[in-house]
Amino acid sequence: TRHLLGIKDIDRNDIELIFETADNFKEVINRPIKKVPSLRDITIANIFFENSTRTKLSFELAEKRLSADIVNFAASSSSVSKGETLIDTVNNILAMKVDMVVMRHPYAGAGVFLSKHINAQIVNAGDGAHEHPTQALLDAFSIRQKLGDVAGKKVVIVGDILHSRVAISNILCLQKLGAEVMVCGPTTLIPKFINGLGVKVEHDLRKALNWCDVANMLRIQLERQDIKYFPSLREYAMMYGLNKQILDSLDKEIVVMHPGPINRGVEITSDVADSKQSIILEQVENGVAVRMAVLYLLASQRD
Ligand code: CP
Repeated sequence: TRHLLGIKDIDRNDIELIFETADNFKEVINRPIKKVPSLRDITIANIFFENSTRTKLSFELAEKRLSADIVNFAASSSSVSKGETLIDTVNNILAMKVDMVVMRHPYAGAGVFLSKHINAQIVNAGDGAHEHPTQALLDAFSIRQKLGDVAGKKVVIVGDILHSRVAISNILCLQKLGAEVMVCGPTTLIPKFINGLGVKVEHDLRKALNWCDVANMLRIQLERQDIKYFPSLREYAMMYGLNKQILDSLDKEIVVMHPGPINRGVEITSDVADSKQSIILEQVENGVAVRMAVLYLLASQRD
């Protein structure tokens, strides 16, 4: 496809090609000279309408390792504050001869909307509670690296499924690769539409953890909640927080993941986040190679 707007638009072969390409780039970025000239004829704009640490820096590093020219745009310090629209903003950036746009936006569907109105390739770096495709790709890539394969593995996604683009993209990606997926959390944070996605639903954390090979612990997304929610953070931590005592009491040694940013002491305690069962920083490391692969493969689809 010309764009990467969501995991729903790609298939297992596409994902496996991204992983094989990322394997090669991972080898490149571990060399003393971490750069290749692959995208030296491409200019990429990273436009972020919502805060980010990992995704923004990871895309920027991926682009630099591929020798692309880049410009960074943060909405908060731009003329968006003077009322300029999304389409005008992006068309003005494109007038400066930009080929590809990496965009994060607080509204679901912003990337799809933009792809219909502008003439550039779009990479979705997270749109509201809709999709975060490169996060799902780096998560699945990290499971493959740790466990050898994704197919046949049991993955539970714990927490705020209702507001989570990471959960949706992960469910779609893991299922396409042949994993079994469960979601776990309080009924108030599990959306009804989850029943149509073919995942298991479990409200008891211990049962979910005893079922899985991998637990992906999500953050409660207070910024997307417009009502006072139940449970409170304190109640959530008591019922769904993963601590060392629970981890050590399980029947087998599971892999622990978190997309970041972590609320230490809420969804996961520090002794778990920093334990040898956690692959949280491997996820971040793999993000650069996976994003290099996505950008490289999309660039080969240019008109
Ligand atoms: N995982 C993730 O998207 O983190 P950031 O919001 O910091 O980019």
